[in-house]
Amino acid sequence: MSVNPFMNAMLDPMLTKPWYRLASWFQNDDINPFYTQHGTTLWGCANCDPNLNHFFNNGMGSDSQLVGKVLVNNKNRKVFEGLNSLVDIGGGTGTLAKAIADAFPQLDCTVFDLPHVVAGLEDIKNLKFVGGDMFEAIPPADAFLLKWILHDWSDEECVKILNRCKEAIKKNGKGGKVIIIDMVRMNEGDKESIETQLFFDMMMMVLVTGKERNEEEWAKLFFEAGFNGYKILPILGVRSLIEVYP
Ligand SMILES: C[S@@+](CC[C@H](N)C(=O)[O-])C[C@H]1O[C@@H](n2cnc3c(N)ncnc32)[C@H](O)[C@@H]1O
Repeated sequence: MSVNPFMNAMLDPMLTKPWYRLASWFQNDDINPFYTQHGTTLWGCANCDPNLNHFFNNGMGSDSQLVGKVLVNNKNRKVFEGLNSLVDIGGGTGTLAKAIADAFPQLDCTVFDLPHVVAGLEDIKNLKFVGGDMFEAIPPADAFLLKWILHDWSDEECVKILNRCKEAIKKNGKGGKVIIIDMVRMNEGDKESIETQLFFDMMMMVLVTGKERNEEEWAKLFFEAGFNGYKILPILGVRSLIEVYP
């Protein structure tokens, strides 16, 4: 249950150097300081640099180990009950999907991520791996899991991803849903929690094109993408599980 690999990934010079480029970035047109430092996006860099690809996926996997335990415990199991199929979009190397697939043997689980992330990973029992681009098309399913995905992207990009999910939900209006695991930013709380939320918000600006959102900002995305309702369930520290319904 150690999150050391996550800490090590976030503290790797590949990911810390872009923070020192904020001043240059304020004066250029690059999409983020990561681009100013490396001349490419984080995902493009992971594709070309096997070391980054490895430590980043490992880091995410260690966090997913923790979140997986929380998701399949008695209190949260009901989120997956009644589903026949689930796609973990941007699911990395499958740690979270594996925890869910093990806990629900009747559920067909698919990990969908960029081809270089899932390359060489073998399907096991009710878990399979599919490579692709979530902005293009995603495999159909009853439900879609998006853990630490939407905070990576701008509002316009999030609406595109949510639109893809809406098109691919098999049980349209009958139990189908999108399950988001991300932060719902609060304006008040203890100092450490507010600092953590602001730090993650900055990190999204430095490394990718996203941000952390409060409830109002989340709701705006869901309704813009044509969804009809949502429910927020706080699950772990500053993170929540948000169910979004067609
Ligand atoms: C912050 S990581 C989260 C990984 C995993 N969901 C987790 O929380 O452990 C974002 C993931 O999105 C994937 N990703 C980025 N762009 C993508 C795209 N266009 N299509 C599919 N996956 C993508 C990355 O490869 C990465 O695995």
